[in-house]
Amino acid sequence: MLNRVVVRAPWAWPLVRGPMTRFFDRAAPGWDQRTSAGSAEHLAPLGAALLHVKPAPERALEVGTGTGAGALLLAREFPQASVRGVDVSEEMVGAAKAKVGLDPEGRVAFRVADAADLPYEDDSFDLVAHLNMPPFAAEVARVLRPGGHAIVASSWGAATPFYTPNRTLDWTFAKHGIDPLSTGEAGDGTFWIGRKPLS
Ligand SMILES: C[S@@+](CC[C@H](N)C(=O)[O-])C[C@H]1O[C@@H](n2cnc3c(N)ncnc32)[C@H](O)[C@@H]1O
Repeated sequence: MLNRVVVRAPWAWPLVRGPMTRFFDRAAPGWDQRTSAGSAEHLAPLGAALLHVKPAPERALEVGTGTGAGALLLAREFPQASVRGVDVSEEMVGAAKAKVGLDPEGRVAFRVADAADLPYEDDSFDLVAHLNMPPFAAEVARVLRPGGHAIVASSWGAATPFYTPNRTLDWTFAKHGIDPLSTGEAGDGTFWIGRKPLS
């Protein structure tokens, strides 16, 4: 139900933001142990999707980063990129920050932010990724540079609680000018990739 609200009726999101945030605040302690976040299985579809992202991004964002496993994968795969991870749950962001500690170069950073109202300028990123998180396509399109890629990956395919079907992703991103580029499977997971046209 929550997934449908985000993708089909994002205007209704403010009504569920409070309960959803509290739910994930409560879920944050022990999240990695319970969900195997950060394991090869969890990250497989995001990792497979990243192989399609060329050229390598300079600035990458993971939305709904939870405890940060996806953002840290982006940082490992694209060592030259500056990586940001955002989540609406302060507890999740606290757990993600604990993984990077004090990063003197500030290459990887996490902050509390709502995907429906991202605290970044237009055209800020050349990659916006989601792992087990429904996309707010309008905001993705706004912060994505022309030529940039959008990824929606689901660790357990259609069995993922926050899974969005490919045809729904095609539809919601097309409304905001992002073209479907590729889809695929990896392990038990699936991914969808779109690209913002260059002009
Ligand atoms: C199913 S969890 C996935 C977390 C992580 N990506 C993973 O795979 O382990 C969904 C995450 O999205 C966050 N989230 C949900 N709605 C959000 C929103 N509107 N803006 C930012 N984060 C959101 C939740 O707080 C939660 O941490």
